[in-house]
This record gives sequence, C-alpha cells and structure tokens, in this order.
Amino acid sequence: MTTHSYIEANKDRFLQELLDLLRIPSVSANPAHAGDMKRMAEATAEKLREAGADRVEICPTAGHPIVYGEKMVDPSLPTVLVYGHYDVQPPDPLDLWHSPPFEPVIRKTDIHPDGAIFARGACDDKGQFYMHVKAFEAMMATGGVPCNIKFMIEGEEEVGSNNLGTFVKANRARLACDVILISDTSVIANDQPSIDCGLRGLSYVEVEVTGPNRDLHSGVYGGAVANPINILARMIASMHDDAGRITIPGFYDDVQVLSESERAELNKAPFDLEAYKKDLGIDDVRGEAGFTTIERTGIRPTLDCNGIWGGYTGEGSKTVLPSKAFAKISMRLVPNQSTEKITELFAAHFRNIAPASVKVEVRPHHGGEPVVTPTDSKAYIAASKAMQETYGKKPIPTRGGGSIPIVALFEQELNAKSVLMGFGLDSDALHSPNEHYGVFNYFQGIRTIPLFFHYFARA
Ligand code: BES
Ligand code: MN
Ligand code: MN
Repeated sequence: MTTHSYIEANKDRFLQELLDLLRIPSVSANPAHAGDMKRMAEATAEKLREAGADRVEICPTAGHPIVYGEKMVDPSLPTVLVYGHYDVQPPDPLDLWHSPPFEPVIRKTDIHPDGAIFARGACDDKGQFYMHVKAFEAMMATGGVPCNIKFMIEGEEEVGSNNLGTFVKANRARLACDVILISDTSVIANDQPSIDCGLRGLSYVEVEVTGPNRDLHSGVYGGAVANPINILARMIASMHDDAGRITIPGFYDDVQVLSESERAELNKAPFDLEAYKKDLGIDDVRGEAGFTTIERTGIRPTLDCNGIWGGYTGEGSKTVLPSKAFAKISMRLVPNQSTEKITELFAAHFRNIAPASVKVEVRPHHGGEPVVTPTDSKAYIAASKAMQETYGKKPIPTRGGGSIPIVALFEQELNAKSVLMGFGLDSDALHSPNEHYGVFNYFQGIRTIPLFFHYFARA
C-alpha cells in the first residue's frame, strides 16, 4: 500500500481523532485549565506512541509540559525536528461563537466548500501539528520514514514559550537536527500555495497610569484633576503620526530595509484588496503610508493596543473620575530589531510623554525575536517540491505577520533553520471566535508532509 492510499483509506479516523483532540480545552493562559493541559499532553503523547514514535515522553517544565517523541532510523540520515503547539488561545468572547468552541462541528463555508472544522485550535495549531502525527503514522505503516524524525509539541506557544527555551538549552543533544519543520502558518489560498520565509518578532507590554490616589466624583473633581483614562488614550494615540508611523524615538533605527526589487518580489504574491476589505467588513485599510498591505504585515513593524480598561464599565452609568487606567500594547518587530531594545525604547518614551499629573508604570510581558528563513536550503526546496506536487502549483515565498517566538531561539541553540510549511488560511479566524480549519487543508497537509520527507531525505 502506498502512503497516499493509506491516508485515503484512513481519512475518517484521521478526522475523528482530530475532533477528539479539539474537545480538550487546552487553554494555556488560564490556570483553571491546568488539568486539561495535562490531559492534552497525555493524549498527544499517546497518539505519537500509537503512530510509531519511540522514547515518547511528557517532559515537565515550570509551566505546561512538552511532549517529545522520535523515530531514529539511521544516524547517518538527516534528522527533521517537527515543532508544534497543543495549547490554544482563550475562546472568549464566547457569545460570538456559532457553536461551542470545544465542541467541534464541520460546516461548509464559501472558502471551504468541502467543509471546515469549527473549534478553538482547529487551525492554530492542533489541526496543523496533528497532520504531522498522521503523516508520520502513514509513512510508518507503509514502509517507514525515509529519515530521522523528532517531535517536540509544546503547551505554551500562545503564552510566549517562556519555558521552552530552558528545555531546548538543556536538551541540545536530544533535539539535534538538520532542520525544524513547523506547520503553524498559512498559505495564500487553497489554489495558491505559499511558504512563509519570515516571522515578525514581538514586544508586549502592559502599562498602568495612575492619577489621584482613589476614584473621585467626576463632578466635584473633574476638570481639575488628571483623568488617567483620558491621559492614557492621548498617550496611545500619540504613538502614531498622521502617516501611520510610530513616534517612539529610535523605533525604526534597526529596521531592515528591503531593496526595491525585494519589495517588488514580495508584492508579486496575489492579493485582492477588495476581497480583503469585504472579508473584514471594512471600507478601507489603514497603515503606514508608502507601503502595501502585504508590506505592512510582512516587513514593517507595528504598534497595537490589544486591550484598554479602567473606570466604570458596568451597567448604566457611574460618574467617576477613575484613579487608574491600564492597557496592553504589542509591537510586532521585523528583522534586525531586538525585542529587548524596543521594549526599553517604549518604556522610556512612555515615561517621557506622561504629564506630571500622572504616574506611569510599564511592565514587559513576553517577547520574541523576528526571523527570516532561507529559500535556497535543501529543506525549503523539499517543501516547495512537496507542495508543488499536491497543489499543482509552485508555492510563493511570503512573509508571515505573526510570531512564533521560539523559532529564533531554535536557530541560536540548535544551529538549525526552520521551514514554515503551514496549511491554514489567514481567514480561518485564528484567535477569533469561530476559528476553523478546512477539511481539505487538513488532508492536504497530511498528503504533503510525507512528500517533504521523501524529497528532503534524498536531497
Ligand atoms: N500560529 C501563530 C502564528 C502565526 C499565525 C504566524 C499565522 C503566521 C501566520 C501562533 O500561534 C501565534 O499566534 N503566535 C502569537 C505569539 C505570541 C502569543 C507570543 C502571535 O503571533 O501573536
Ligand atoms: Mn500557532
Ligand atoms: Mn496562535
């Protein structure tokens, strides 16, 4: 039996198994789900074992465990380290889901005429890491893997992978590999494959602005005492100028500038602005002047307020001049920018622009360095050939706007580059209500991955 026919013969089971994993609410950010995280790690380990992996282990960390497994067929053959994450983002806001986030259902959509699996984590990243487990099973059941495989599936990607770095540093020998293969990104469209060749870095901070030492009557004190929410709103708004550029001094100093020809190459990727606006329900896009949408999300750094709160937000009204205001702010970074430096620049600027009438505090959260991956490596070429075969079209190299903080560290600690062979779509509502993953995309991944191994092992 060929690997391909094995996959075809086991499709129903492959789908059901993914649905079972999606029923486990493995939300890493929420301590209430610690038990579910453990269950999810155990289920992942069990599935790896069943698929034929050896030395499967649930490795404890200071946070959520990492699942490891491997199949070493011959030390003289190359080794691929598959990385993925079994944790998911919180499903909130729940009332916007058309079906419960942890009760997967398959529904057809315009973009997914063969159906899409709706559940938190369907695309990011359970559906995608599980393709590797099933592709591995299919290879093992039909003659074995053509080179060595290691799996490292973690449970803290969505909260910054803080403990994975320690694990990688302590396990360099066990994780030694020639390339890291990751399916946690997207393709341009189901009829236009692409491979991300870069990920943005991230600086994430939380700020606190304090005005008076207690909440005040807004009639008695309003107008005479600084309102920290008014002040914070002004401070955040001032961080972009009219051209959409970030005003933090030094913010752009290290930004890698692409040549005109590199920019032209990047903009060759098909992009339908009208469809993009329609999908998001917006009348216009907005961003840094002088750059296209592809460039704004791929090669330019950004600053976004992710949440802002303070004062009275309950039913009805309360006339209050609040003592405090808070915000969470993220900055996406591009090659040559450093998360530590940008966080410092932000903190200094934030303190600098705060008026004397308030006190401010900046608390850094997790970060991650930007990466670019080569398009001329054996592994990239193997991924490209594999996708060309299953999609019938050569994949276009693109730059992903999101971040996978650990990828830069892999390069540094394991001295290996990554290939970001993702199969999702940007419109799959990752991190949003009604996240989904195309049934086609899931099986396309399972069909493509063995071809990657085939071409990579022979390269
Ligand atoms: N899978 C995403 C990253 C991604 C998505 C890259 C689509 C490219 C295209 C990942 O799970 C993610 O969401 N990362 C976070 C990192 C953060 C929580 C530290 C992100 O980008 O916000
Ligand atoms: Mn992900
Ligand atoms: Mn994510």
